[in-house]
Amino acid sequence: MNKGSSLVRHSIRSLVLIAFGALLAVTLAPVAGPAQSSLPPPGADGRSALVLSDAERHLVLEEMRNFLAVLQTISEALPGEDMKSVAAAARKMGSGAANEIPPETVAKLPDTFKQLAGAVHTSFDTIALDAESLGDPKHTMGQVGEMLGKCNACHGIYQIAVQGPAAK
Ligand code: HEC
Repeated sequence: MNKGSSLVRHSIRSLVLIAFGALLAVTLAPVAGPAQSSLPPPGADGRSALVLSDAERHLVLEEMRNFLAVLQTISEALPGEDMKSVAAAARKMGSGAANEIPPETVAKLPDTFKQLAGAVHTSFDTIALDAESLGDPKHTMGQVGEMLGKCNACHGIYQIAVQGPAAK
């Protein structure tokens, strides 16, 4: 009888301990949860971030869309061997266009970015000159392909991150 009741007491104590443990786990879980998820999630995009203001981001992306628009004009002119249109379009994005980004923005850009951007503008200069002097669509197509390699090289390295509204 004594033995039996001590066994029962022991079992009850174990049950109480298990129940307390479970309660503790349930109570602490929400505390541990938000603490963990308040860490910034690792970004899926691992490219280096160019930290720019919203207005600067707009300028850079606008220049990018101009690159693409000019490439459309060139691609449409090439099959008809309209080399005058090729030259005019390419010249729009030549070295002259590089000045559209203000110097204070340029100062924020890393050297590799500036070198690749400069190389693309120079390629447009050469495409314009050769389209006029050689008038050879195949030659131009080769130059465009080579230049696209520079677009892709830069896109593989950088993304733009917009800084807070306070800093301009
Ligand atoms: C020196 C670096 C660099 C070069 C060279 C470059 N780009 Fe970009 N481009 C970028 C960056 C940085 C972005 C923004 C990417 C991001 O934040 O995800 C971008 C974005 C773009 C976009 C998206 C624009 C938008 O409105 O969202 C297009 C289109 C584009 N580039 C086209 C081109 C083309 C075509 C060329 C070559 C003729 C080119 N780029 C050359 C750096 C470059």
